[in-house]
Amino acid sequence: MIENSSIENLKTRLDIVDVAGNYLELKKNGANFKALCPFHSDANPSLVISPSKQIYHCFSCGAGGDAIKFVMEYEKLNYPETIEKLASMYNFSLTYTDNKQQIDRKLMDNLTLFFRKNLDMRKEAKEYLLQRGIGEAIIEKFELGFAPNSDETLNFLRSHGYSMSEAKEFGVADISENNNRAYCRFTQRIMFPIRSRNGKIIGYGGRTITNHPAKYINSPQTKYFNKSKLLYGYFFAKDTIFKQKKIIITEGYMDTIMLHSAGFTNAVATLGTALTNDHLPLISKMEPEVILAYDGDDAGIAAALKASILLSRHSFKGGVILFGGGLDPADMVKNGEIEKLGRLFSETQPFVEFAIERIVKRYDLSDALERQKALQEGTSYLQSLPEAIQESFKGVLSGALNLPQNLVKTKRNANVRDRKEAFVDVLELTIIKTILQKPALIDTILDNIDISMFKSHNEEFKLLLNNELENPKLMRISMWEDIKTYDEANLFSAMITFLIRFYSEKLLLIKKSKTLSYKEKQFHIRSIQEKIFKLKKGELVAFE
Ligand code: UTP
Ligand code: MN
Repeated sequence: MIENSSIENLKTRLDIVDVAGNYLELKKNGANFKALCPFHSDANPSLVISPSKQIYHCFSCGAGGDAIKFVMEYEKLNYPETIEKLASMYNFSLTYTDNKQQIDRKLMDNLTLFFRKNLDMRKEAKEYLLQRGIGEAIIEKFELGFAPNSDETLNFLRSHGYSMSEAKEFGVADISENNNRAYCRFTQRIMFPIRSRNGKIIGYGGRTITNHPAKYINSPQTKYFNKSKLLYGYFFAKDTIFKQKKIIITEGYMDTIMLHSAGFTNAVATLGTALTNDHLPLISKMEPEVILAYDGDDAGIAAALKASILLSRHSFKGGVILFGGGLDPADMVKNGEIEKLGRLFSETQPFVEFAIERIVKRYDLSDALERQKALQEGTSYLQSLPEAIQESFKGVLSGALNLPQNLVKTKRNANVRDRKEAFVDVLELTIIKTILQKPALIDTILDNIDISMFKSHNEEFKLLLNNELENPKLMRISMWEDIKTYDEANLFSAMITFLIRFYSEKLLLIKKSKTLSYKEKQFHIRSIQEKIFKLKKGELVAFE
């Protein structure tokens, strides 16, 4: 079992924004963050994450809780599994009450050192790097190494007491299905250790130096390594990304390390995969402008188009630069064209413009039917963007097609909240939220307001009186940014308003009543009118 104190320790290190940010694309929203809720199918961001309260809450489906609950629900893990997952994500060593101590065995750190030593010993590997323009400083920073023959690596692992199953778990070795023998996944390759966003080595990329048909090999998906979410170099780039509010996304390991060596320390790369939705949480974290630096060949253009469509739909700022003439950023750095690179990065083509241009370029516009198809594809892309963006780029599409602008139809995005919300009474909610934040005010309120006066939010008021502050219904109110809270003076006038409203409604009911006698009516009406009169003068009236 994991020791409780150890769990408590871990908890203090968890930040709900960071934890949820591993999984979701968060957008700042006042003091809170917003995201599409992963726990129901959410069309508009209904999930609110509060850094000050360290909780999340979905205003649509009601899911809510702290960082641990989030990971539990998202990953569908039980409690201890969730704790272990979080500990691994945050480089935290748990202590266990029994002997089955899961100490961090540092397999990947030691293996990386082993690869580095091998690089120093192998002339051919060092020479390969030199010839590519990679010197000691880059080798050092990115901990480049060399994977020797399979047996040498396996020997190293064995002699350091690592079992085959451990090596397999980290994706560095496997058992061959043909002959049942163990083998190392990487042989005769320059090794690029891949760090998680928190700096832990969790995988490798390996480039052949012997012209192996697989130019690069990457670690397989393991429980520690998910290549569709990660970006190579992110750990080394994050400070610059934060400072400059810019991120350069390249296609390869080489581009990334060479850009860093030339001072572009905000460069990262996808790990041999396309840029997808899964990358967005990491990219959006510091809300940077995104520079896509891709190869100008067909594959690069297609990848840049897909990525531009994705990024523009998610309202990312930034644009594309395609490298032509068979040169990629790594080649340009090697050739010393650093100033030119800097210029190129500052002259990117905005995503929407790039996407429209490339969509249109796929059709032969001299053919009327093709032009119609281009119009359809361009329009449907445009309609997937936020409304104001559609309007701004209508002209770009019609211009590219040489058609009148009125043929490009924009579309209202369905912005109606998809929550099936019960009636909301802002006044009631504001009073509840005020008490949630300043519990001392409850006495003032209870002297004048009775629970029966709460109509729309009676249940929440009851929870509040019962001190069930962890109840999701109350958490929701305390995180609801549209609901403000009062200070004491404002609370007083709000209570007056609330009471006038209550007694006025009551007055109306009595006047309309068919069960009360004339005399009874007269009595009630007079007493209520008296209350309203007092309230209007600014005096509170006790509930009786
Ligand atoms: P490139 O083929 O463009 O390689 O692949 P590169 O970055 O220019 O590398 P060098 O300069 O020839 O060494 C770009 C990325 O695609 C993935 C790798 O992540 C690589 O960095 N890739 C490429 C693979 O995963 N496997 C391959 O066989 C080739
Ligand atoms: Mn290259």
